Amino acid sequence: MAIAAHPSTAREFEVVPGTPVQFPLEVRHQKLQSWIQDMVSLCKPDRIHWCDGSQEEYDDLCQLLVENGTFIRLNETLRPNSFLARSNPNDVARMEDRTFVCSLSKTEAGPTNNWVDPREMHKTLNGLFDGCMRGRTMYVIPFSMGPLGSSISYIGVELSDSAYVAVNMRIMTRMGSAVYDVLDEDNQFVPCMHSVGVPLEPGQTDVPWPCSQDEKYIVHFPEERSIWSYGSGYGGNALLGKKCFALRIASNIARDEGWLAEHMLIMGVESPDGEKTYLAAAFPSACGKTNFAMLVPPESFKGWKVTTVGDDIAWIKPGKDGNLHAINPEAGFFGVAPGTNAKTNPNATATIARNTIFTNVALTDDGDVWWEGLTSTPPAHLIDWQGKDWTPDCGRKAAHPNSRFTVPASQCPSIDSEWENPEGVPIKALIFGGRRSGVAPLVFQSFNWVYGVYFAATLGSEMTAAAAGNIGEVRRDPFAMLPFCGYHMASYFNHWLRFGRHIPDPPRIFVVNWFRKDEDGNYLWPGFGENMRILKWIVGRVRTQAAGKETKLGRVPVYNDIDWTGMEDFTEEDFNQVMSIDPEVWKQEILSHEALFIKLYDRMPKELMAVRELLLSSLFSYEKWLNKSE
Ligand code: GTP
Ligand code: SPV
Ligand code: MN
Repeated sequence: MAIAAHPSTAREFEVVPGTPVQFPLEVRHQKLQSWIQDMVSLCKPDRIHWCDGSQEEYDDLCQLLVENGTFIRLNETLRPNSFLARSNPNDVARMEDRTFVCSLSKTEAGPTNNWVDPREMHKTLNGLFDGCMRGRTMYVIPFSMGPLGSSISYIGVELSDSAYVAVNMRIMTRMGSAVYDVLDEDNQFVPCMHSVGVPLEPGQTDVPWPCSQDEKYIVHFPEERSIWSYGSGYGGNALLGKKCFALRIASNIARDEGWLAEHMLIMGVESPDGEKTYLAAAFPSACGKTNFAMLVPPESFKGWKVTTVGDDIAWIKPGKDGNLHAINPEAGFFGVAPGTNAKTNPNATATIARNTIFTNVALTDDGDVWWEGLTSTPPAHLIDWQGKDWTPDCGRKAAHPNSRFTVPASQCPSIDSEWENPEGVPIKALIFGGRRSGVAPLVFQSFNWVYGVYFAATLGSEMTAAAAGNIGEVRRDPFAMLPFCGYHMASYFNHWLRFGRHIPDPPRIFVVNWFRKDEDGNYLWPGFGENMRILKWIVGRVRTQAAGKETKLGRVPVYNDIDWTGMEDFTEEDFNQVMSIDPEVWKQEILSHEALFIKLYDRMPKELMAVRELLLSSLFSYEKWLNKSE
C-alpha cells in the first residue's frame, strides 16, 4: 500500500489491495507490523491513517468530523474548541448483553459474563470484520494506559474505522507516536480491533453516526489479551482503552501479577495542617464517581482540599514501602453530563469549559450545550440529542440520560499534583457505594478487610442509564465490577482476599450510600459537596481512629462525630434516619445475597460464606435479645 499521501495530512495513505502495507519508520515492532498487515487484509479499508497524537492531527480530524456531519462545532466564544456529536438512538450506552469474555473455558469466564467458545467467536468475528472497513479509513491508534514509560503502564494499539474514536482516544489516553518508542520487541501490546460495522459502497454517502443496527459484539479474549469490538461507536464499547482494556483485560493481568484493576476513582484529601490522605472509591456506573472525585468542600471547611487523580479506573499495586500505590490509567474524563452544574460539580463545570467533545447533549440556540440539571430553568428552545426541536413542555428529555463529555483530565482545576506520577499515589482507604433508596446507611466502616470484601462483593445498586437494562431495579454489582470483571467473579473475590493477606497494613474499607430516600422519594442526604462531612470522618478514622460506634455491620459515626458547621439544620433525627440499620430489613438483605452466592457457588470463597453467617447470627441475636427484654 502507501503510495499517495492524503491531501489533508501526510499520515494518511491509500491502500492498494494485494500490496503489502508500508509502515512509518516508528512502527518497527514485528508482531505489531504483522498484526496490522493481517487486519488490513481482513478489513480492507480504503485508507490507513497513522495517528501521531499531535494537536494538528486532532484539529484536522475534528474538522473532518464537522464536514462529515458527525460533529457540530460549538460557539467559539461560549465553548472554545468544543464539539457536539449525536449518536444513533440505538447506540447510546455500553451493551452488557453484547459483551463477551471468551476465555478458553466457560468456567473461567464465570456465570456473570457472556461466553462463547473462542474458536467459534473468532470465526464469527472474522466473518463480520471481512471487508467491514471498505470505503473507510483505518485509524492506527497507539496508546499507553498510564503515564508513558511508567513501570505500571501498559501499551495498546486500537485499529478503528471511526475518526470519532481516534479523537476521543487522544483525550482519554496518552495517544501518539511516542508510544512506539517505549514498545520494544520484548514488550507486549494489547491489540484492540474496532469497527462501526458499516462499510461504504463506492459513491455511498456516510451517515453522521455509523453503527451496525442489528449486530454488536464487544469481545475479549483474556488468554490472548486481545479485544474485538464491532457495531458500536459509543463510549466503553468503542474507546477500547477504557473498560475493555483497563478493566476486563487488565483484571486478568492483575490477577496473574498480583495487583488490582478496579472501577474506582482516586482522590486526595488534604486537611488544614497540610496532611494528605489518598483514597479510592468504587461506585457503579453513573453513581457519583466523577462528582466525588472532584468534590468541593462546603465553605465552612476552611483549609480542607480535595484533589482528583482519576474518576473511573484505578490500577492498584503493592509497593516496596508496604503501601498500596494507585495510578489512573486514563488521561481524560468520559463523564455523565446530566446533573452536572456549577453547584453539584463546579470542578467538572470548569473542566468542560473548552476543548471538550459532548455526545448526546442538547444544543442551545446560541451554539452552546444544555442538559437536564445544568440550569434550574431550561432554555425556551433547544435542539435535543436526536436533532429535534425541543421546548420545555414537549415531554421529552433534551439530553440523553447517559449523555457524556470527553475532556482532558489536565484541565480539571482540582487535578492532583501527583496525578501523573509513574509511581502512583499511596492509598489508605477504599470506599464502596451503591445507589440504594433503602436499606444501606449513609456510611459505615467494615470491621476488617474480609468484612470489607464481603460488603464490596454484595454491593447492591439501582440500575442507571449508563447501560442498557431495567433502570431502577436493584441488582448485585460486586465491587461495581459486574460489567467489567474479565474472569470468574468468585475467583476475583478470592484474588481480593489473597491480596489483603499479603499487605501488612491494608487500607480501611468503608461503605457509603448517598442515595437513601424517604417514603415520598426525597433524598435523605443532600450529597455532593456535603459528602465532605462523611469524608472527613473517614479520613479521621484512617489517620487517628477517630470516634465512632460499633454496630452489627461495622463502625459508624454518631451525630456528634460529624462536623456539621454550616449545616446545623440537619438534625440528629435526620442523621439517624439516613444512618438507620434496621435488623429486619438487613436480615432480608443478607438472605438476598444468597442468590449471588449460589450463582457463584463453585468458586465462592469460604471466608465470605463465614462472614455471611456471622452477620446473620448477630442480626438474629439482636432480635432475640429484644424479645427477652420485653
Ligand atoms: P461512570 O462514568 O458511568 O462510571 O459513572 P460515575 O460514577 O463517574 O458517575 P457520575 O459521577 O457522573 O454520576 C452522575 C450521577 O450521580 C448523576 O445523576 C448525579 O446527579 C448523581 N450524583 C453524584 N453524586 C451524588 C450525590 O452525592 N448525591 C446524589 N443524590 N446524587 C449524586
Ligand atoms: C461506565 O459505564 O461505567 C462508564 C462509561 O464509565 S463507558 O465508558 O461508556 O462504559
Ligand atoms: Mn465507569
